[in-house]
Amino acid sequence: MNSKEWWRPENLHRAEQEFREESSDEASISSDFQSYKLLRTAQDLSLTGITLHNDVDPLAKVQAIAKLLGHHQPRSILDAGCGAGFTTKALAATYPDATVLGVDLAEDAIAYATAHHPEAKFQARPISPASGALGEFDTIFCFEFYPFTRNVDVDFQVEFIRYFVSQLNPNGRLVIYQTWKNKNSLAKIFDEVKAATPELNYGMMTTPSPRLSTRLPLRLAIALSILASRIGGRDWAKPLIVVTENKIGTTKAT
Ligand SMILES: C[S@@+](CC[C@H](N)C(=O)[O-])C[C@H]1O[C@@H](n2cnc3c(N)ncnc32)[C@H](O)[C@@H]1O
Repeated sequence: MNSKEWWRPENLHRAEQEFREESSDEASISSDFQSYKLLRTAQDLSLTGITLHNDVDPLAKVQAIAKLLGHHQPRSILDAGCGAGFTTKALAATYPDATVLGVDLAEDAIAYATAHHPEAKFQARPISPASGALGEFDTIFCFEFYPFTRNVDVDFQVEFIRYFVSQLNPNGRLVIYQTWKNKNSLAKIFDEVKAATPELNYGMMTTPSPRLSTRLPLRLAIALSILASRIGGRDWAKPLIVVTENKIGTTKAT
């Protein structure tokens, strides 16, 4: 495997399978697969290193995102690359009328999610345009999903975005959340990806620091987060990319 291309679904899936077959208990928790493995038996989350890999307390973030998305009330949600399901659980709490499915290629993560988050459904499988349909969703959320956050391959990301959009119901939304300053991500190639997909609409929003969004009105939290990012250099304000089909309100071409 080209180690620079570890993030490709087929490579990551193979690495995950090999890890489960061969890893020792001493493997480093800097590997998300080791953290997921430890989650299955550990009583204390802090000993598993899971916070290095998953947002284990994402409710305020997810609620701020839901406010930004406004009146859009999805009834079916996919959380792509859900890890151990903390974001999936937060989505289920934020959208109580929706069915929520979390999918991740890491089997240990999905075993933990299934055991701990009964309010959602989970599936262990790699997500890839090559691996077929996932279902039909009103909203697909990608929180720090490697196909968008670990490479700057325009063709790959375009193919992935088109694939996700093909799994949306009419008027559906693909919502991508990532760390803006990540130079090896969709953020870096955003203009090229947009230019290559004229059939799609892109919206860019700013999500505020969850700490501010729980205490202040959303607009004020956003303004202060942007200011704090500019002054302090720390990444308080994060981007949210929302992708829809161009013809909102029409059904998909057959
Ligand atoms: C950084 S973690 C983020 C987990 C979670 N979304 C969160 O924000 O807490 C990225 C997750 O994406 C999963 N992942 C990456 N590429 C994937 C793919 N092609 N199909 C399914 N899962 C994938 C990894 O196994 C990992 O659990």
